[in-house]
Amino acid sequence: MKIIKVADQIEGAQVAFDILKEKIENGAKTLGLATGSTPIELYNKMVASDLDFSDMRSVNLDEYVGLSKENSQSYYQFMKEHLFDKKPFKESFLPDGMATDIESHTKEYDAILEKYPVDLQILGIGNNGHIGFNEPGTAFNTQTHLVDLQENTIKANARFFENESDVPRQAISMGIASILKAKTIILMAYGQAKADAIAKTVNGPVTKDVPASVLQNHPEVYIIVDEEAASEL
Ligand code: GLP
Repeated sequence: MKIIKVADQIEGAQVAFDILKEKIENGAKTLGLATGSTPIELYNKMVASDLDFSDMRSVNLDEYVGLSKENSQSYYQFMKEHLFDKKPFKESFLPDGMATDIESHTKEYDAILEKYPVDLQILGIGNNGHIGFNEPGTAFNTQTHLVDLQENTIKANARFFENESDVPRQAISMGIASILKAKTIILMAYGQAKADAIAKTVNGPVTKDVPASVLQNHPEVYIIVDEEAASEL
């Protein structure tokens, strides 16, 4: 793991952007993308850049179950708003929150990941150490799967919804095994709320209790943190 300390999210986005640009110049064709507030500045930089993604593919980590593509809270809309409408990819994949047969949909998503292996995966981290929506306790060998969101994740994500009761209780997420297949991984974390999860991710034992700790086993991971997120390292 390479730990990169930055002043703030803007500087972190620049560092992530420089790695992304270099990977694309060296042939990266598929980006693994994340939602949440953490990657927004990176997406802003990608939008403002002269990089062209029209020959590339993107595969997103996760989507809420029960939210349609039209729903303003869906991760589909988030990606459209922050990146895809301004910088379209050749194809962009997200799990379908309205899939009627979730089991077969997760298998289809695995097939997409098999066909288009992720060259560079962007990650945020939950306050409880989750990556994608892989909550503590998730087996390291999981592929794309249906997730029951934990209470603290529902609370943490409630800020994006009008009421906490509007937050979906389930999601479809790439699994931990799927995430680890990416050639390169960039995890960004900003703010005090992430400090405990970052300390356990970097210095703690590799354990299912802290899903991001599994990244210690990956050969090329960059952890970009501001001072607050790094404060317990
Ligand atoms: C959600 C997403 C994660 C994201 C996390 C942190 O749970 N599924 O991919 O990393 O939120 O969000 P934020 O970046 O807003 O702190």
